[in-house]
Amino acid sequence: MEEQKKETIQEEPNFEGNYIEKFKGVEEQEFYPGELISWKLKKQSLKIYAQHSVLQLSIIDQSILKFRYSNDGYFEDDFSYAIDPEYSYGDARYKFKDQKDYILVRTSVLKCYIYKKNFTIKICNDQDQVIMEDEKGYHWKEEKKYGGDVVITTLKSSPDYKYYSLGDKTGKLNLNGTRRELWGTDCYGYGNETDPVYKNIPFFTGLKDGLGYGIFLDSSFRTFFDFGKERKEALSFWAQGGEMRYYFIYGPNLVDVVKDYTELTGFSPMPPKWALGYHQSKWSYYPESTVRELADNFRSKKIPCDVIHLDIDYMDGYRCFTWDEKRFPNPKKMISDLKKDGFKTIVIIDPGIKIDQYYPVYQQGVHHNYFCTRMDGARFKGSVWPGPCHFPDFTNPEARNWWSGLFSGLVSDGVAGVWNDMNEPAVFEEGSFPRDVRHHYEGHPCSHRKAHNVYGMQMARATYEGLERFNGNERSFTISRSAFAGIQRFSSVWTGDNMATWEHLKIANIQCQRLAASGISFAGSDVGGFIGSPDGELYTRWIQLATFHPFFRTHSSGDHGDKEPWQFDDKYLSIVRRFIELRYELMPYLYTTYWQYAEFGNPMLKSISLAYQNDTETLNREEEFLFGDHILVCPVSEEGATSRNMYLPEGKWVNFWTDEVVIGKTEITVNAPLDQLPLFVKSGSVITMQPKMQYVDEFEPEALTLHVYAAEATTTTLLYEDDGHSKDFERGLSTIRKFIQKTDGVNFSISQTMEGDYQAPYQSFDIVLHAYKGVPKSILVDEQPVHFEQQNNNIKFTVSKQFTMIKFET
Ligand code: GLC
Repeated sequence: MEEQKKETIQEEPNFEGNYIEKFKGVEEQEFYPGELISWKLKKQSLKIYAQHSVLQLSIIDQSILKFRYSNDGYFEDDFSYAIDPEYSYGDARYKFKDQKDYILVRTSVLKCYIYKKNFTIKICNDQDQVIMEDEKGYHWKEEKKYGGDVVITTLKSSPDYKYYSLGDKTGKLNLNGTRRELWGTDCYGYGNETDPVYKNIPFFTGLKDGLGYGIFLDSSFRTFFDFGKERKEALSFWAQGGEMRYYFIYGPNLVDVVKDYTELTGFSPMPPKWALGYHQSKWSYYPESTVRELADNFRSKKIPCDVIHLDIDYMDGYRCFTWDEKRFPNPKKMISDLKKDGFKTIVIIDPGIKIDQYYPVYQQGVHHNYFCTRMDGARFKGSVWPGPCHFPDFTNPEARNWWSGLFSGLVSDGVAGVWNDMNEPAVFEEGSFPRDVRHHYEGHPCSHRKAHNVYGMQMARATYEGLERFNGNERSFTISRSAFAGIQRFSSVWTGDNMATWEHLKIANIQCQRLAASGISFAGSDVGGFIGSPDGELYTRWIQLATFHPFFRTHSSGDHGDKEPWQFDDKYLSIVRRFIELRYELMPYLYTTYWQYAEFGNPMLKSISLAYQNDTETLNREEEFLFGDHILVCPVSEEGATSRNMYLPEGKWVNFWTDEVVIGKTEITVNAPLDQLPLFVKSGSVITMQPKMQYVDEFEPEALTLHVYAAEATTTTLLYEDDGHSKDFERGLSTIRKFIQKTDGVNFSISQTMEGDYQAPYQSFDIVLHAYKGVPKSILVDEQPVHFEQQNNNIKFTVSKQFTMIKFET
C-alpha cells in the first residue's frame, strides 16, 4: 500500500513553491453530488440542486449545452478568456419535464437526461441515440495543498470511440488510449512521447457510432484528459482548481462541431495576404548585410519569399523593443529597402524584460507595477536570454495596454509583424514561474496555477492589439508559440522546437491537422526541423508538406548549418522552388480557404476522418488531409520513397499531376517521385490559380486560371477577393464569386454569380477543363461561341471575368 502510494502521489519540487503535480491516485477520497433534490428554471438556464452540488445547465444553442457545477451553492464569476466576447447566443428555447427517475431538458436536436438517483447526465439526439453519457459523472477531490478542489467528470467510453482535436498534441491522431495534460511547456526537442507540449487547448472532439460531438473544458487551470488510458471504458477530464465548466457541442458532423467551437471561442481576423506567402527564418540573421544578402539571394535565385524573420540577436542585449545599433545601424532604412524588394520584416519579442535600471521598458514596468510578483509582493525574477528578468502580467488589462503601446517604435521602423516566443512562459532552469506568482486575471486575482495556461495567449493579444493600434487601416500579423483556446482571435502559431528527422515530418503533419480541428488553422512547423540538419530529401519533402500548411516558414536554430533552400543541391533546390511557386500559384484558392475559416470557422485543413467520418476506413488513416475543401494531400514521409500507399475517401478524385481519375473509397498506391507529392482534386471543384510570383504583390495578373474539374452533379465553388492588405473589406470592399457546375450527364454548364463591390484588376479567366468526357461541339459564353483548344485531354479557352454562363454543347 505504501509502495502504491508512492507511485501514484508524485510531487517533484523544482524549487521552493514550484511543484509539478501529477494526478493523485484513486485511493484519495472522491466526493459525489448525491441525489437530485430540486430545480429552478430560468429563461436560458436552469439550476438543479443535489445533496452536495448544484448544476447550472445553460442552453447556448439548440446543439450546444453548457454545464457548470458548484459544490457549495455559489458560482464563480463566469469569466473566461476563451469565449469570444462577441459571441452571440443562439436559440435558447427548451422543454422541461420532471419524471420519476430523471429530469429531461429538450431542445429541437438534443435530449439531456439528469438522473435523480446519482445526478448523472445522458445526452441523446432526437432519435434517442446516446451521444455522451456519464459514468461516474461529476465528482471531486479536495485539493489539500492549495485549497479548492480537483474537479472531475468521468464519461463512458469504449476502445471503439475516436477522440481528436486537443491542440498541438503529438502521437496518434486518434487520442483514444492516451492520457494528456495541458500545462504549456517549453519542450525543446520534443517527440511523440512528450506531454505536455506548448499549447493548452482543452477541447476534444469525439466520434461515437458515427455521431460527432465536442467537449470544451473551459478551465485555465492545469487540466488532464484521460481517454480510456486508466480504464478503457472511461474517459475523464479534470482541472486542478476552479469549477467544472464545460460546453457540450453536438454535430453530428465533426466539421460542424469544430465550426461551432471556433465561433464560440472566436473567429480569426483576415490576415494580410503576404502572411500566407513563404517565410524565411533562422536564429539569427544578422548583421544587416547578412539580411540584405539573404533577400538578394531569394530574388536572384528566383525563389519566392514574402517575409524575413529576425530572431533575438537583432536586439540590444536581448532587450525587447530595442535594436543592436552595431548590427542594425539603420533599421528603418533596411526595412524600407527590403520592402521595396517585396519583403516584409518580422521581429521576435519575448516576455522577459531585462532587469536593468537604465532600460526604459524596465523602468516603466517597475514604476507602474506591471510585472508579476510573488506571494509577498516581491517582483518575480527568472532568467531567460537577457539574464535575470521580470515578466509583465499580461492578465492585467493595464499592463497589456502599456505593452501594446510599446510597439509604436517598431511599427514606425516598418516592422510588419511580430513573433511572440517563450510565452508558456518559459524560464531557464525552473521551466516556468513558481505557483505562487500573482496575477490580476481581469480583476479576479489568482496565482500562477490559474493563469499559467492563458499567459501566452494574453501576451499575443497585447501584441496583436499593439499592432492594431499603430497599423491604421492595414491588417496585423502575429505568431505565438504558446496558446490557449481562442488564440485564433489574435495570432497564428507554430509548433516550436522540432527536429530534422523523418519522424518529425510526420509529427508536423499530425500537429497541424490537430490544431486545425481545434479552431487554430493558421499553424505551421519549422520546415526542415529547428534542431539538426535535414538532408536535401527530407528538406524537400518537408517543403512539399508545408506548401499546404497555412503558415509556411523555414526556421532553424542556426547551430546546425543553414537552411536556406540553396544550401541543398540543385536537384533539391529546383523542386523546392517549384513547390514554393505552386504555393503562390494557389494563392487565390488558399486566400479563399482562409476567408472560409475566418468567416465560418471552417477548418483550413481537415483530416480525412474529420471530413469523411461516415467512411469508416478514414478513421484508420492519419496522413491524408484536405487542404481547403477541394484538394486532398498525402505527404511522403518515408525516406527514399518514390511511391506511397494512400486512401481516397468516397467520391471521384482527379490526380493533380496526371489528370487520372480515381473513384474513391479505395486504397491506392500512387507515384510519388521526389518532385511530386500525392495531390488529388475532388471532381466538381474549381481551383483558381494565378501566375507564379516572387511575392504576393509583385504584379497584378491580367488573368486568373480556373481549373474546372468537371462535375457529375451540381457543385458550387467559391472565390473570395479583396485587396489583400487593408481593412476596406470590412466596409464592403470584397467580392465573392460562385462558380456553379451543372450537368445532366449530357449537357454541362458553368455559371457564375458575383456579390460585392471589390473589383480585382485582372480582366479575364483562362479556363482549363479537366476530366471532361468527350469533346464539346461548341462552347457558348453568354450565348456567344468561343474558340477553344484541346490539349492533353483538357479543354482550354478564355472568358471575361464577368461571364455569367458557359454552356458546353455536345
Ligand atoms: C526558442 C524558439 C525558437 C527561437 C529561439 C531563439 O527556442 O522556439 O524558435 O529561434 O527560442 O529565440
